[in-house]
Amino acid sequence: MSAMVRSVLGIDVGGSSIKGGLVDIDAGLLQGELASVATPRPAAPEPVMQAVANLASTMSLTQSAGVAFPSVVQGGKARTAAHIDPSWIDIDGAALATRKLGRRAVFLNDADAAGLAEMRWGAGRGLTGVVIMLTFGTGIGTALFSDGKLFPNTELGHLELNGIDAEEWAAARIRTQLGLGWPAWIERVNVYLKKMQTLFWPDAFILGGAVSERFEEFAPHLHSSAQIRPAHFAGQAGVIGAALAAAS
Ligand code: BGC
Repeated sequence: MSAMVRSVLGIDVGGSSIKGGLVDIDAGLLQGELASVATPRPAAPEPVMQAVANLASTMSLTQSAGVAFPSVVQGGKARTAAHIDPSWIDIDGAALATRKLGRRAVFLNDADAAGLAEMRWGAGRGLTGVVIMLTFGTGIGTALFSDGKLFPNTELGHLELNGIDAEEWAAARIRTQLGLGWPAWIERVNVYLKKMQTLFWPDAFILGGAVSERFEEFAPHLHSSAQIRPAHFAGQAGVIGAALAAAS
């Protein structure tokens, strides 16, 4: 039966680690465990993509691959570099990934990838109206959907809050760096959600990133007039969404 499974390689490049796995793109399921390696330092194009290729070489070959990346991606090119080496700017990540992986590769923003997975198979399944997916990690990633359709590259983690980038104040990294407990961190998240609410009036927020695995613990402190749902795939959403993007 397993010969019938259509799998695509999904990779999620993060500020601290690179994760990858084979995804059954009919069921939206990760096949086996996620593999992960530390993001090389400096996180420049060649070493990062070499690490991606090394990770991929431990898995069975698929026809195509999707690479989710923490920057604005236009026409396959990285356009920003908030938590990745600045030498990425204007690099054609799709072409580089295709060359290093030896197969067709799609390159897209990491939060957009996570949002695609959640809207298709996860917390956003069947949701209409305006949905904002948020990924809390090294930065804050966002993906905006209107009636299920993605408006790509929204960089709402860089909205200004208290005179600084929202992600410098409310990302999961900041919680760890400052040793904030759930109530103190969620107070910050609430301020951030309120700012988004006044600007975009979403019907629902999907809260993602590895931290969403602890949703039950911090949910009582969350407040928003929009519905708030925990991401179904938590820290795996980027990998699954990258594979989905490569399959379509
Ligand atoms: C980047 C986004 C990315 C997010 C999450 C931000 O710093 O600007 O492109 O989606 O981090 O990784």
